[in-house]
Amino acid sequence: MLEIKNLHASIDEKEILKGLNLSVKAGEVHAIMGPNGAGKSTLASVVAGKEDYEVTEGSIELEGENIDELGADERAHQGVFLSFQYPVEIPGVSVTNFIKTAINETRKARGLEDMPARDMLKKIKEKSELLEIDSKFLSRSLNEGFSGGEKKRNEIFQMAMLEPKVAILDETDSGLDIDALRIVANGVNKLKSEDNAVIVITHYQRLLDYIVPDFVHVLHDGKIVKSGTKELALELEEKGYDWIKAAL
Ligand SMILES: Nc1ncnc2c1ncn2[C@@H]1O[C@H](COP(=O)(O)OP(=O)(O)O)[C@@H](O)[C@H]1O
Ligand SMILES: [Mg+2]
Repeated sequence: MLEIKNLHASIDEKEILKGLNLSVKAGEVHAIMGPNGAGKSTLASVVAGKEDYEVTEGSIELEGENIDELGADERAHQGVFLSFQYPVEIPGVSVTNFIKTAINETRKARGLEDMPARDMLKKIKEKSELLEIDSKFLSRSLNEGFSGGEKKRNEIFQMAMLEPKVAILDETDSGLDIDALRIVANGVNKLKSEDNAVIVITHYQRLLDYIVPDFVHVLHDGKIVKSGTKELALELEEKGYDWIKAAL
C-alpha cells in the first residue's frame, strides 16, 4: 500500500529525515513512536506532500505508483489522508458542507460527477451512525470553538467519509484528553479494513491501550531504528527511549 524507501527530507537546508524505510500493507495499522523532535510529524507532512519540505533522496510509493512528484491536493485525491490537514475555522461552513465539497473535489479530480445528493446523505448518515456523531455536531461551523475531542471527532468523520487508502493520524500535538484518545481509537478500530492502512503517530503509549497496532516502530533522529509488535510499545513505556538510543 505505502512503500517508503531511503527517505531523506530537509527543511531550510536542515536534514530531518535521514534514510527512513517503512512498508505498510493494506489492512495494517502501524504505530510510530519516538521522542520529541525525532521527525515524526515531518514524516507525516512529507508523505502528505506538504511543500515546506524538500525530499532530497529516496521514494514514496502508493499502491506501486511513485507519488514523489504529486502535490498535497493530488495525494489527497489519490487517497492519502493526514489528520490536521484542514484545521482552519470556517464560520458559516458546516462540518457536513465541508466534507461534501471535499468529496466532490476528489471525485472531480478522478473525472467523476458530483455525488448525487441522496447518496451523499446516505453516506453521511451511515458514517455518522457508525461513529456515533449526532446531527447537531454535523451542522456546526467547521472547527469553530471545537474542543480537542470535537476536533478529533471531526477528523475521524472526515476520514470515514473520504475513505482514504492510507490515513496518517498525528496524535503528538496538543493536549489530548482521554475522551479524545478514545474517539481516535474507536474511529480507527471501526474504519480499518482490508482495503486501507492506518499510521498512528503518537508518543502516548496510552493510545495503544485502545488501538492495537500490527506493528510499532521507533523513530529516532530521522530514521526508524526499531520495529516490533505492540509489546515494543509496552517495553518503551517501561524503559523510555534511552535504552534504544543506548543500543544504537
Ligand atoms: N518548520 C520547521 N522549521 C525548522 N525546523 C523544523 C520545522 N519543523 C520541524 N523542524 C525540526 O525538525 C525536527 C523534527 O521535528 P518533528 O518532525 O516535529 O518531530 P516530532 O514530531 O517527532 O516531535 C526538530 O528538530 C524540529 O525542530
Ligand atoms: Mg510531532
